[in-house]
Order: sequence, then C-alpha cells, then structure tokens
Amino acid sequence: MPASKIIGVGMYLPEEVVTNDDLTKLMDTSDQWIQERTGIKERRFFKEGVDTVSSMGAKASLMAIERAGKKPEDIDFIVFATLSADYCFPGSGALMQQHIDFKRNIGALDIRAQCAGFIYALSVADQYIKTGMYKTILVVGSEVQTNVFELSNRGRDMSVIFGDGAGAVVLEASEETGKGILTTKLHTDGRSAEELYLEHPGSRRKQRFNPTMIETGELLPHMNGKHVFINAVKYFPEVIREALADQNLKEEDISLLVPHQANARITVAVGKELNLPDEKVVSNIHKYGNTTAASIPIALCEAWQDGRVKEGDLIALAAFGSGFMWGSALIRW
Ligand code: COA
Repeated sequence: MPASKIIGVGMYLPEEVVTNDDLTKLMDTSDQWIQERTGIKERRFFKEGVDTVSSMGAKASLMAIERAGKKPEDIDFIVFATLSADYCFPGSGALMQQHIDFKRNIGALDIRAQCAGFIYALSVADQYIKTGMYKTILVVGSEVQTNVFELSNRGRDMSVIFGDGAGAVVLEASEETGKGILTTKLHTDGRSAEELYLEHPGSRRKQRFNPTMIETGELLPHMNGKHVFINAVKYFPEVIREALADQNLKEEDISLLVPHQANARITVAVGKELNLPDEKVVSNIHKYGNTTAASIPIALCEAWQDGRVKEGDLIALAAFGSGFMWGSALIRW
C-alpha cells in the first residue's frame, strides 16, 4: 500500500494587520485582556473584493504546488476544509477551479469539520492515496471569519480570537517505507454541538433569515468558552497519545507538535501534559489569531520555512473544535 507524503507546503495571509489596540476602538476590550487569555497580539482581516476563501486557498495551493515541483495539472483531487465557504453552495473546493487551471475537471470535496477540518481533510486524502484511487492530492484549509463575528461589545468574546488566512499541502503517493502519514485519528461528540456553533443560515427554520435576527444577535456564533477550553485540554493530548500508541511510539519520539492554534493557553497546556519542551511545540497564534481550518497548514508551513521540519522528523498534528470534532495525525517527514 502506498504511503502519503507531504511534498509541498504553502500559505497565504491577507495584508491587513489588525492589532488588539485597533480592536479597542470598536469594543470594550484591552490588549492585556486578549493577550492574557489567548496569547493573541494581532490577526489578519481579509480585503473584500480581493480575498475570498477560495482565492486565498488557491494562493496557498499554488505556493505548495510550486514547492512540490509540480504543476496544477499534476493534481488529481482537491480536499478543501473550511467553515466559512465563499457561498452556501457550491463549496470552495469547486470554486478553486475558478482560480487555478488544473487542465482537467478533477474532483473537489469540501470538509465541514471546523477547527479539526485540516486533520479530517488530510485523513480523507490519505485514504484515497492508500487505496490507489489518486496519486497527488491538494489538501487546503482556508477561512474568512472576521466577517462572521461582530466587532462590537456583544460580539467581543469571539471576534477578538479569530482571524483570516489559508494554508495548503500537496500529498503524494510514495513507496518509501516508514515515511509519510503514519496514522490519523478522528473523533466527534455531536452532543456538544451547541457549545460552539453558528445556527443561521441553517435549515431548521422555515424562514432562514428575518430582520429581528440581526437585532437579537441570533446571526452571531455562540461559544461556551470555558467548556471548550476544558474539553480541548483533555482531548488534544488524548488523541495524540492514541496515535502514538497505534504506532508504538512515545511522547518523547515527537520531533515537533503542530497543534491547531486555538489559544496559546491551550497549546501550552497540551505541551506540558505531553512533557514536550517549548521548542518542540509550534505557536504562531500571536500573529494570526485562531484561523480555524487554516491554522495547522499555516503553522506547518512557517515551521518548514524556519527549518524546524527536517527529513526523518516525527511531526504530530492535532486539533479540537466545534462539533465537538477533534483528531490527530502522525507524519514521518
Ligand atoms: N474583552 C474584554 N472582556 C471580555 C471580552 C473581551 N474581548 N470577551 C469577554 N469578556 C468578558 C466577559 O463579558 C466576562 O465578563 P463578566 O465576568 O463581567 O461577565 C469576562 O470577560 C469573562 O472572563 P473570563 O471568565 O475570565 O473568561 P475566560 O477566562 O473564560 O476567557 C476565553 C474567555 C474565551 C478566552 C476562554 O474561555 C477560552 O480561551 N476558551 C477557549 C476558546 C477557544 O479556544 N475557542 C476556539 C476553539 S477551536
């Protein structure tokens, strides 16, 4: 059975940098409150008319394709993770074909797994490669979220945390033994769905929108921050340990942990729980905030650019988020 190797990484961040101090002009918050609780100093805001989830995904993808030494026509399939698709339908994976000429009508699949989206996407792509159905797959995570939240007092609990951005990897079938994605582990607890969710425009109501929804704030997402925090610090280490046990590996075998950038306090707690020194845990949330499905490929791309990902390293990826959905991946680089 072939293994899936990551042969190219790419990222794209919109130009506009919004600092915590910038947000204090829009709501009652402070740089100190945000930094103490989340570690975030600034985030990027997309530019309307320039950036879309699919165009940002395409920019990250073209970088990954070039670094892989490939051309768009070499790609066999697209797996695209996002919670903030350009349109309600069709998905942003399909729209990527408006930005990149793949020369063929390759299949495209959108993944709805929120902060765990990239792990789920990677796992799906890995299975296609292992079965031999596809040889080269583009796996993308991209989000425009700064327009999902309200830059106001009532929206401040969430709007200070999230940011926009995109990351992508090219996965390719490899016959090299012991290299590539060793395992992925996926979990969901749908009973906790309403602890972190956005109801509208869902299909439960006869009328998806009405003017009162704007006034009442029903169009805003809801997060039970404390409950999310408690579950994240429990399930991140658990799902990483599950993957390690599957491969007869130990925590000390991890060369680099690239966690979903949910919150710096969560990342620190997970690193401590797994006895990993700080230099083995990637954290860039201070620059970009929580970019949901894009956070892992962006962090992986930056780590690779900084020379922190080397041939033969054991890279652990892990994520937890809305659903609740969580997962991990172990990669021998
Ligand atoms: N600025 C200032 N004050 C804010 C604020 C903001 N942006 N957002 C909320 N507050 C206020 C609240 O209104 C509340 O005020 P009150 O005590 O007067 O009612 C208070 O801050 C809540 O503070 P606290 O209880 O100390 O919050 P917290 O320590 O639970 O931190 C989170 C809040 C969201 C940062 C924290 O719960 C968290 O990190 N949760 C995980 C979230 C996460 O990672 N989500 C993504 C998952 S993928």
